[in-house]
Amino acid sequence: MMRIDFERFKNKGLMKTNLNGNGVSGVKKAWMLALAYLLIGSNAVLNAQQAPVWQQVHPGIWKATVGKPEKISLLSAAAIKPRVSALAKLPAAGFPLEKGAISVQVVDGKTYLRFPLDREEQIFGLGLNFQSVNKRGQILNLHVDHFGETDNGRNHAPVPFYVSSKGYGVLVDAARYMTVYAGTGVRTDSKNPPVLRDRNTDQQWDAQPYSDAVELLVPAAGLNLYVFAGPTPMQVVQRYNLMNGGGYLPPKWGLGFTQRVPTLYTQQDILKEVQQFEEHRFPLTFIGVEPGWQSMAYPCTFEWDSTRFPDPKGFLNQLAEKQITANLWLNPYVSPKGSLYAKIKPFSGSHTVWNGIVPDFTMPKVRQLFKDHFMRHHLSLGVGGYKIDEVDGFDSWLWPDVTTFPSGTTAEQMRQTYGVMVQQMTAEWFKSMNKRTYGLVRASNAGASSFPYVIYNDYYSHRDFITALINSSFIGVLWTPEVRASKSAEEWVRRMQSVCFSPMAMLNAWADGTKPWTFPEVENAVNEVASLRMALLPYLYTTFAQYHFDGKPPFRAMNLVEGFGFKPTAVAGTLDATANPYAMGIKTDVKDQYMMGDFMLVAPMFAGDKSRKVYLPMGNWYDFYTGKLVGENEVITITPGLDKIPLFVKDGGIIPMIPSSPRAPKASDVLPLTVRHYGTAPGSFDLYDDDGTSFNYERGQCSFTRLTVQKLANGRLGGTMQAPTGGKPFGYSNAVKWVYMTEGE
Ligand code: GAL
Repeated sequence: MMRIDFERFKNKGLMKTNLNGNGVSGVKKAWMLALAYLLIGSNAVLNAQQAPVWQQVHPGIWKATVGKPEKISLLSAAAIKPRVSALAKLPAAGFPLEKGAISVQVVDGKTYLRFPLDREEQIFGLGLNFQSVNKRGQILNLHVDHFGETDNGRNHAPVPFYVSSKGYGVLVDAARYMTVYAGTGVRTDSKNPPVLRDRNTDQQWDAQPYSDAVELLVPAAGLNLYVFAGPTPMQVVQRYNLMNGGGYLPPKWGLGFTQRVPTLYTQQDILKEVQQFEEHRFPLTFIGVEPGWQSMAYPCTFEWDSTRFPDPKGFLNQLAEKQITANLWLNPYVSPKGSLYAKIKPFSGSHTVWNGIVPDFTMPKVRQLFKDHFMRHHLSLGVGGYKIDEVDGFDSWLWPDVTTFPSGTTAEQMRQTYGVMVQQMTAEWFKSMNKRTYGLVRASNAGASSFPYVIYNDYYSHRDFITALINSSFIGVLWTPEVRASKSAEEWVRRMQSVCFSPMAMLNAWADGTKPWTFPEVENAVNEVASLRMALLPYLYTTFAQYHFDGKPPFRAMNLVEGFGFKPTAVAGTLDATANPYAMGIKTDVKDQYMMGDFMLVAPMFAGDKSRKVYLPMGNWYDFYTGKLVGENEVITITPGLDKIPLFVKDGGIIPMIPSSPRAPKASDVLPLTVRHYGTAPGSFDLYDDDGTSFNYERGQCSFTRLTVQKLANGRLGGTMQAPTGGKPFGYSNAVKWVYMTEGE
């Protein structure tokens, strides 16, 4: 259906003849010109719905260009480097949607997009949401911001990527504040219109009638679209992560435990804190230094404060001797009091943030100036990473949208990509030293899978933190439910348990000065869970290797688990006997439990709760601690004690562990492995290893060693470890202790 947009032609002066009163011939001329314009048509002025032209760019990934894409996009800011060989290993797949059902249109400098949606379909992703997993029926304005306590699209990583429960994904690559109507709009020409109902008489009248589309409005006259095939939702996410470079593999120390110290701690205070951790035998693998390390903060000098840190190099060396690295807090707004200010000034935006200038990171010159400064003052001294704060929001703090930048990048584009650009830039510094880092950032977006950062924020709902962890798995970002303070010992231990089953086990004591042993009555339980994390490092590290090599997120929503469905009886509500028996179950928004890797199901407890429900996917599931069968394909209710976080393992699950140590394993270590097996099914696990700190694994300096459990002739279970690949890093001894957790149960 073509429609001539008169306003557009008026604006372009094409209607002038007519408006000047030249009569019928003028009108005709305008029409002819308009028609010619449409036929020759630059894509930038598409003003009728069209079907995009798809081109396969990687196996199972298609791209279409609509109109004229802008110079800055989310993926261009991230400078993604697809992992081509890994993408090729995923199963071949056809285009997953009906092409004719997708339409695009550019009107008035904005792009309109429409994708089909089936009746039973669920939509996941669309940002780091805190309150719900299935986004169907919601309207979101994707805008980088702090989380304002409602899932409205404004959040720390408003990634315009969604994964459908039907097993395909869609990414809109535009650095703009776009609006997503995730199954809310109903067109007059819909092929699947909702049933017309009379509210006066029909009880089934619905204020939100069925919608058969996901529609998006993007305030840009063009963009690139990507469609990802599955066939499973997990494979969609794998393709997305691999296109973006594969997930990040942290150094081993990054997967240990970290404490962030109070803002004004001196180097002496920090060394004392390390000693206290040793006295309490509590794991500590890196330490977070908050704003006080700098001579000025908010805005920042990025230079050490000479009173609190008289000898940064000596301090970092003392930490290094104890196998601990330091992570420095910063925000990127440059203080007039620092040596970087004058150099950056010509390359900064028109507005300030806390009186600091806002560097235009799209400019190579700025990036170089930052690199020189940071290399000299921090990386060359041994700094292990950064916490990059305040790159998300609030609107009244950050640069306003009227800000201009010297590169011509708009304030809106800058807002949507700033967090990604600082991640990409800093990641490269460490890479140039062949040293892995692992840090924190408060804003991200599409394209960030391969960056060494975990998102955090100032919000503090334990439950919502877990939902964010679940949602992070759809969009190629990592999230930590950091612990800061608690009202009770119960809350303290529950929060500590969750954070130890997350991408970064962190106590952020910047304001409260809390320690893991702040509540003495639960000190043992807290120590136990942190030690369990250290013991699980071989499993966790391998899980992150899967993120890098295969694109599988380390912490996963249940919706990414194959066979996630339930017996109808397991779910309350009236069932329609003719419907898919699993449909009712999977409609439940499961937002408080998740998978860590392939085998472990984590069901955190929240303060005040004595029991909880756990949704067990198909197959038998076993208690991690006892090996006892707990159920299969059903919803169970558990009443665990305070001292443990409920963990379950899939039938045939194999969990390699090491003796818990307060520090991360070193490259030279040869550690004894205990391999646990759960259930009765045979199973295998490809244990990953490398030197734990460098990028040599990218050049083949790594190994996968298969651990297998089989049924023996006598009916018992027997485990074997494949001979480790010669000449490759492998930090475990050959004498494996096999523990069959369920045998004899
Ligand atoms: C906040 C940040 C906190 C802490 C604090 C220091 O913006 O979210 O984690 O770093 O700054 O001033």
